Amino acid sequence: MLSTHLFLRVTLLLFMLCAPGGVLLSEQGATVLITGANRGIGLALAGEFSRAGYQVIGTARSPDKAVELKALGARVEQLDVTDQASVDAMAARLAGVAIDFLVNNAGIKGQEGGLADLDVNRMDVVLNVNTLGPLRVIQALFDNVQTSEKKVVANISSMMGSMEMNTWGCCLGYRASKSALNSFTKTLSVDYADQGLVFVTLHPGYVQTDMNDGKGNITPAQSAAGLFRVISGLKASDNGHFYNYDGKEMPW
Ligand SMILES: NC(=O)c1ccc[n+]([C@@H]2O[C@H](COP(=O)([O-])OP(=O)(O)OC[C@H]3O[C@@H](n4cnc5c(N)ncnc54)[C@H](OP(=O)(O)O)[C@@H]3O)[C@@H](O)[C@H]2O)c1
Repeated sequence: MLSTHLFLRVTLLLFMLCAPGGVLLSEQGATVLITGANRGIGLALAGEFSRAGYQVIGTARSPDKAVELKALGARVEQLDVTDQASVDAMAARLAGVAIDFLVNNAGIKGQEGGLADLDVNRMDVVLNVNTLGPLRVIQALFDNVQTSEKKVVANISSMMGSMEMNTWGCCLGYRASKSALNSFTKTLSVDYADQGLVFVTLHPGYVQTDMNDGKGNITPAQSAAGLFRVISGLKASDNGHFYNYDGKEMPW
């Protein structure tokens, strides 16, 4: 009888430790906000957090069309990261809501190609979405993050933003937008380290989404499973780092 009891208790403890992403149940109930959560990696990541018991706030430019996100039970907020009024309106609606994990995921691929076919006048589009967008969101939701328990800001960057890994060129605007995202993530990690905030950038892998017309070597679900494990397990010593979705360090 006693051994059956012990077995059940050990099984329960193991279940808690081995819950999705290896998180303890006591960490659940925390809140995550994911931008661009209506499709692709953002939607898959919203699913991971939702199934693990987190409160999920997912943003979409068109909430009416965010059917799959709503089906996860997420709170859906309208957000266009290029529109300061949209960012401010969302921040006003979320006033007083502690956000443990702010995941800046929304992004676009931008102008492809090299110098010959580059339209310099259109580069502001990709920089506006991928670089200034996350900065607007971080600024507007800073109090929400600061008053939370975890205080994590995870910016979905790309290996394309890594200087060291830039060995095959291509994609001037996209690379620059992610390198600049890495740069300000690092700066904020230094500026706010003494306040317990944790800023990281993450490479989600080469993922089969609309962004690359379904090409890639992993699915959104595989990417999101890894990202969830990394993000939910972040601690103070991770501040200012750049990680792959599998948790390996990425070179700047
Ligand atoms: N896929 C890859 O292989 C890969 C590799 C490295 C990095 N990444 C990064 O991973 C992130 C997610 O990419 P993904 O592959 O999942 O792309 P995706 O399937 O094309 O989804 C992009 C998401 O961003 C949203 N978005 C675009 N512009 C926006 C704006 N102005 N305001 C708010 N939301 C906006 C989209 O919303 P709408 O539906 O309204 O357009 C959509 O929800 C991006 O930051 C991307 O750069 C992807």
